[in-house]
Amino acid sequence: MKRVLSGMRPTGKLHLGHYHGVLANWLKLQEDYECFFFVADWHALTTDYANPAGIKENTRQMVLDWMSVGIDPAKSTIFRQSSIKEHAELLVLLGMITPLPWLERNPTYKEQLQEIRDKDLHTYGFLGYPVLQTADIIIYKANKVPVGIDQAPHVELSREITRRFNNFYGEVFPEPETLLTSAPKVLGTDGRKMSKSYNNSIFLSDPPAEVEKKILYMMTDTARKRRTDAGNPEVCPLFLTFHLLYSDENTRAWVREGCTTAGIGCTECKKSVIPKVLARLEPIRKKRAELERDPGALQGILERGAQKAAEAAGGTMEEVRRAMGLE
Ligand code: TRP
Ligand code: SF4
Repeated sequence: MKRVLSGMRPTGKLHLGHYHGVLANWLKLQEDYECFFFVADWHALTTDYANPAGIKENTRQMVLDWMSVGIDPAKSTIFRQSSIKEHAELLVLLGMITPLPWLERNPTYKEQLQEIRDKDLHTYGFLGYPVLQTADIIIYKANKVPVGIDQAPHVELSREITRRFNNFYGEVFPEPETLLTSAPKVLGTDGRKMSKSYNNSIFLSDPPAEVEKKILYMMTDTARKRRTDAGNPEVCPLFLTFHLLYSDENTRAWVREGCTTAGIGCTECKKSVIPKVLARLEPIRKKRAELERDPGALQGILERGAQKAAEAAGGTMEEVRRAMGLE
């Protein structure tokens, strides 16, 4: 069976953007592939090295969300990057063959150096981010790497590093393929892209009353100032996210008609979709509550996942050491 690998930095509780953009895709993949899903906690340190206090709790919250939506440890291998020291060994070895210019011209690297101003990112670790990511992928001989468009340049770099390795030392690794995830646009309550840092998110673990309140306060077509003004669903964040993701075609037709003729108000429009969102979140919240009742469960899952991952990574590293003359 083909192998899929993906990871996320531990950012804590996940929101609907993560659910529709990433997790829904992982859920499908775990039915058809041998999946490895891991918490990229070392990658978190490439930017947050000065402030690592949150990593442990953020890992816990994130893995709880993975499992609450149905990422299943009986089907997928779930683990923390930092549990598998072989990633670091492979990072050192890949560092020997990775040309600096490949890293320096990486568009994500250049962009983030520009944009992130509150941290000093002129570090060896941050420059080497894609090399560590390459180690994460190829140590499991993963065939496919599901990522969003923003991560695609990193996987491309991984393919180049892999080719270079295979050229020097023989065909140890399959070249990992990008599995581009087509993510629907999920907008937050302020109409911008849903993102934790914008404070506009609906979290998978929000209680129903909170979800309802957030949707009731969500931004709509800003040109529709009064109830008697007509609106345009095609520019309304509430419509573009919630009705597109949760309503059936009949409801959408009712909204289009009512909104453009001022026949319905925004509150009425919102109230028509809230129950559908709550219904989708209900089983997720129930599963989370169940998991939270047994704090040892999560630990056990991560430990068993790490055992499976260590087996695979250990086998690969024996081959790598042999290929590089280290045995
Ligand atoms: N860089 C990824 C992100 O920020 C996380 C990640 C680390 C990853 N290693 C990976 C993703 C390997 C896919 C494969 O989301
Ligand atoms: Fe948006 Fe609905 Fe209000 Fe129209 S009626 S502006 S679609 S919330």
